[in-house]
Amino acid sequence: MSGIVQFENVGLRYGTGAETLSDISFTLRQGGFYFLTGPSGAGKTSLLRLLYLAQRPSRGMIRMFDQDIVTMPRDILPGLRRKIGVVFQDFRLLPHLSAFDNVALPLRIAGVREREIQAPVQEMLNWVGLGERGAARPATLSGGEQQRVAIARAVIARPEVLVADEPTGNVDPDMAARLLYLFDALNRLGTTIIVATHDLHLLSRITSAEMIRIDNGRILDPTGTLRNPPGARTYRPQ
Ligand SMILES: Nc1ncnc2c1ncn2[C@@H]1O[C@H](COP(=O)(O)OP(=O)(O)O)[C@@H](O)[C@H]1O
Ligand SMILES: [Mg+2]
Repeated sequence: MSGIVQFENVGLRYGTGAETLSDISFTLRQGGFYFLTGPSGAGKTSLLRLLYLAQRPSRGMIRMFDQDIVTMPRDILPGLRRKIGVVFQDFRLLPHLSAFDNVALPLRIAGVREREIQAPVQEMLNWVGLGERGAARPATLSGGEQQRVAIARAVIARPEVLVADEPTGNVDPDMAARLLYLFDALNRLGTTIIVATHDLHLLSRITSAEMIRIDNGRILDPTGTLRNPPGARTYRPQ
């Protein structure tokens, strides 16, 4: 089975130092739900940057959507990026646009007609608890509110792949559970999801999810993916 994403012996080196990622091999099944876990500095964000095509690897093979990402011409990348929803660790909302317009952006880029934009964007804002804040500029929102706008923007156009980097780092546990429910619903519609997190409580909520664990730039299990271990459901962080 080829999968929607395939990494083989991928390495990433920033500048001339040691490799930040080494010998990374794994496959993401289409429609799968994956957690990427590992301590701070392990290389989670770096791995996700490869996945959302912000970075090319220094070595190895990456295939996504049945295309060789490493050798493909650069002008094909923007078309592929549109299939990928991203929740950045630092949100990256457009400061001059309202919360509503930030969320609407992927639909507008996809050419959805204006009269088909209002209702789904408002519904999405309602879902993330920002139904009254659509007119607000990002700078006037709290970190947690900005994070929710970023998540709404990432999921609104039902991307084929959703990449989320610590997407619940700034919200309380109830909202984290709600956002994860949103990811789960999107996953049930067919989106392949990968979420970097070190929130062990979150991991226990999607029992069908698989874990990819990295430490020091390497995947811990040589097979790449591990089933949620038994007992994860009851695990509580210290
Ligand atoms: N743009 C960069 N240039 C140089 N080093 C970087 C860059 N981004 C990350 N690193 C380094 O790569 C390592 C992994 O970082 P990162 O991928 O952000 O890990 P994580 O998201 O798991 O905390 C860290 O040692 C970090 O300092
Ligand atoms: Mg990170």
